[in-house]
Amino acid sequence: MLGVFDSGLGGLSVVRRLKERVPHHELLFFADQAHVPYGDREPNELASLLARNIHFLNHAGVSMIVMGCNTSCAIAQQFGWPASSAPIVDLIESAALVIERQGYRKVGVVATTATVRAKAYSRAITSRVPNARVFEVAEPALVPLVEAGKAGTQEAHEAVAAVCDQLPSDLDAVILACTHYPILDLHFADALGEGVALIDPAFEQAERAATLAVANGIAHGVAPSTYITSGDLEPFRTAVRMITGEFEPNVKAVAPLAR
Ligand code: DGL
Repeated sequence: MLGVFDSGLGGLSVVRRLKERVPHHELLFFADQAHVPYGDREPNELASLLARNIHFLNHAGVSMIVMGCNTSCAIAQQFGWPASSAPIVDLIESAALVIERQGYRKVGVVATTATVRAKAYSRAITSRVPNARVFEVAEPALVPLVEAGKAGTQEAHEAVAAVCDQLPSDLDAVILACTHYPILDLHFADALGEGVALIDPAFEQAERAATLAVANGIAHGVAPSTYITSGDLEPFRTAVRMITGEFEPNVKAVAPLAR
């Protein structure tokens, strides 16, 4: 079983890529919607939420943790990864690998406030491509819009346009560096125009997970995937259906994880 977590619905944009790439593996997804958005929280609290989420997935018996939250990866870069018997696939590393492979040099990063503050993307990219120039910008309005089911609204369109306006116009690529943002990808494509490559790190993340699953001999699952939220069950069920395409997803609600 492969584990994925996020603050909320964004992690489902990683889950849908895993379902395409490793369709025979059972997935366990945890959305910590009791604490969404993570991006506005302080580093110490984020480190403690990360440790709880990693512990929760290990305790549930996952064989690998495929990160579905950039903000948590950024915090791990600052504080170190919590102990985990399951290997962890870092999402920021996946994005940096794409930049290196594609030869991009001038790169925009749209991410949460906490990710931008940590400068984790700049470090990960320049450690692979030393002459890369990285421009990181945040827009705190985007995650709440996706969580509220407002991805397809004028409000979302304008918020995406506003954050893209803060980026230089001659970029090679823009990374959707929060997993909620691929749900807004049409707005990003519209705002950035044709000359800029739009990168959803989830594709590379699923590719790396597939490789590691083979290398580690992780068995295919027999049970259906499970989707757990620490928030409200019914809106979560609807969002899981819409984003993953599963007709009758196995969804559950839990109390917020204990400290
Ligand atoms: N989707 C998460 C990320 O990739 C966190 C968004 C949030 O809760 O602020 O960064």
